[in-house]
Amino acid sequence: MQRFMNTDYTTCNKEGINNLVTEADHASEKAIMDLIKKSFPGHYILSEESGEIVQDSTYKWIIDPIDGTINFSRGIPICCVSIGIEQEGKMIMGAVYNPFMNEIYFAERGQGATLNERSICVSKKQKIETACLVTGFPYTYLDMPNGPLQVFERFIRKGIPVRRLGSAAIDLCWVACGRFDGFYEHKLQAWDSAAGFIIVEEAGGKVTDLKGDVYCPYQPGIIASNGILHEELLMHISGKVATEI
Ligand code: IPD
Ligand code: CA
Ligand code: CA
Repeated sequence: MQRFMNTDYTTCNKEGINNLVTEADHASEKAIMDLIKKSFPGHYILSEESGEIVQDSTYKWIIDPIDGTINFSRGIPICCVSIGIEQEGKMIMGAVYNPFMNEIYFAERGQGATLNERSICVSKKQKIETACLVTGFPYTYLDMPNGPLQVFERFIRKGIPVRRLGSAAIDLCWVACGRFDGFYEHKLQAWDSAAGFIIVEEAGGKVTDLKGDVYCPYQPGIIASNGILHEELLMHISGKVATEI
């Protein structure tokens, strides 16, 4: 256990030296799960810190009680609560709340996406050369072809800005509202992406796995974009575009 100087939260490590969980992750998770259990006692829940509450239900809540825990533990105001709802295996609703920026992103299947109740849509950027991208890196090094560092280098060598915020749910929401034109990451968990995935789609964007196939939050890789740049992003990420030096 370690107490950080700039917060009041006790932290401890999960798997991987910097994969933290704070008291606040557990408190947030308990508050959310208590509410769901009270209002929808028969629903299935998958939550990062507690795992699964298996129920014979067509509804499944997918919860990340704090996405961006490292940021949170250091007082960096880029972190959020992320909650998605799946019905019969399809995402039907997503909500992402960053209390530090007072931003709540919400989407319901077929109803569009909002930021603080105002409609949002993805960017209209046409060219990858002038795009602004965002990515994230896993807590452990991934030694694989077209891995996180190789793809990152490929974009940087082309002079394309790639940001790293530290919260995949916020990365996705910032694609949805047009702050970024694209996001990719190699190794996420369902709770990182479930809500952000539907928010991007409902904002008019496109989400696939790293091969360009239909996205499923239970596999690791993701590419999210404004749709226009998706094919080009995919080509760069899969190494089908030559690197310029
Ligand atoms: C992490 C964040 C980060 C991503 C990591 C995730 P956590 O979630 O979403 O952006 O790069 O892979 O694990 O641990 O802060 O909930
Ligand atoms: Ca997370
Ligand atoms: Ca988390």
